[in-house]
Amino acid sequence: MSILLTGATGFLGCRLLRELLAEDGEEPVTVLGRGTPETLRARVEAALAWLSDPPLPDGAVSRLRFVTGDITRPGLGLTAADRALSLDGLRQVWHSAALLNFMDDPIPLHRSNVLGTHTLLGLLDAAPQAELLHISTAYVAGRRSTGHVLEDDLCEDSGFMSRYEESKYTTERLLHAWAARNRRNVTILRPSLLVTDRPVPPGLPPQPTDFLIRMIDEMAGSWTARSHGIGHLLKGGLRGDRIEVRFEAHPEGTLNLLQADYAAHAMARAAAAPHTGPARVRTLHVTHPHETRFQTALGALSTRYPELSLRVCADVTNPTSVERALADQTWRMPGLSTLRRTYDRTNLRQATGSLPDPRPIDHDYLARAYSQADTPVPA
Ligand SMILES: NC(=O)c1ccc[n+]([C@@H]2O[C@H](COP(=O)([O-])OP(=O)(O)OC[C@H]3O[C@@H](n4cnc5c(N)ncnc54)[C@H](OP(=O)(O)O)[C@@H]3O)[C@@H](O)[C@H]2O)c1
Repeated sequence: MSILLTGATGFLGCRLLRELLAEDGEEPVTVLGRGTPETLRARVEAALAWLSDPPLPDGAVSRLRFVTGDITRPGLGLTAADRALSLDGLRQVWHSAALLNFMDDPIPLHRSNVLGTHTLLGLLDAAPQAELLHISTAYVAGRRSTGHVLEDDLCEDSGFMSRYEESKYTTERLLHAWAARNRRNVTILRPSLLVTDRPVPPGLPPQPTDFLIRMIDEMAGSWTARSHGIGHLLKGGLRGDRIEVRFEAHPEGTLNLLQADYAAHAMARAAAAPHTGPARVRTLHVTHPHETRFQTALGALSTRYPELSLRVCADVTNPTSVERALADQTWRMPGLSTLRRTYDRTNLRQATGSLPDPRPIDHDYLARAYSQADTPVPA
């Protein structure tokens, strides 16, 4: 028997790999990714060393084997020998590889996320015993801003906040059709926004919330270049005063943030639970039981920018230049700041049994997480 994992060099993917290797046993784990087997091994082993607390069982790393593959290429870009190795005793396929970005161009997202999954299904067609565990996202709920999102909900009526979400939604649709047509079981795991307060050494996958940090750093950098303004202010303050910046968002806006280590652990636990019920596809929200207020997430940024006070405001009238610059950057995540929805976790709880809830994601946790961001505060 063997397991195949795509996306093992990613922020979540390397944690999934850690979980797969944490199980006692000798089952080979095939890592499919871009680059030579040697570079893949080096990247994956560096990530496993980073995540070595708690330690893996002795010999766990010797279960790994590496194949060069690219989900956007025909046949995943596998050589005949690597395809045979990947299929050898294949019991489980974890599909974590994806393109994550919030740009407008739908083509690369469709190619990687939808067509890439379609190509992977071609491999699964040749392994009728193998089960697919597909990593999706809780954000397939799109622009739906309120209410309790059920794990079986999959609806495009509200539209999407980004092409990325849309591509993940379309991929889920594709999986439902494939599972029904081929009478195959699929588990769809939908994590929310993943975070860590574990320091991220250079070269290892950064956490997605870094995009918020990068956005502010970029803004501060360009502002500095133009006017020697905010970069200086963010670092040193204006005669010791805090600069208040209003950020347009719903006052009750929330985010669902979950510790990445917990998410990977919950997914591995869920995968071990039997696939019960008549449905071919089971979908699990791998989310935190409690939402984090948008204001809390913004407020924790003050630890990175001690002179900056970011405040949620329903309607930013007469914006200052700084507020305009911030708004100009946030086109990348339209609608995110208006969400107040919650996520049902019934299927997750059933599949993970006695797994305790994750620790709270509060101001202190996020302050630690933001301080780990890999982009330097602008000079
Ligand atoms: N991180 C989150 O907060 C979050 C939240 C919800 C859902 N998710 C989902 O979780 C999954 C993993 O996310 P992540 O955080 O690990 O993402 P990530 O850090 O951006 O990693 C993406 C992974 O996909 C691989 N990949 C991308 N394009 C590929 C291609 N053409 N061929 C082969 N491999 C390719 C990357 O390989 P390279 O190293 O070669 O680029 C990398 O291993 C994704 O499906 C994502 O949609 C993540």
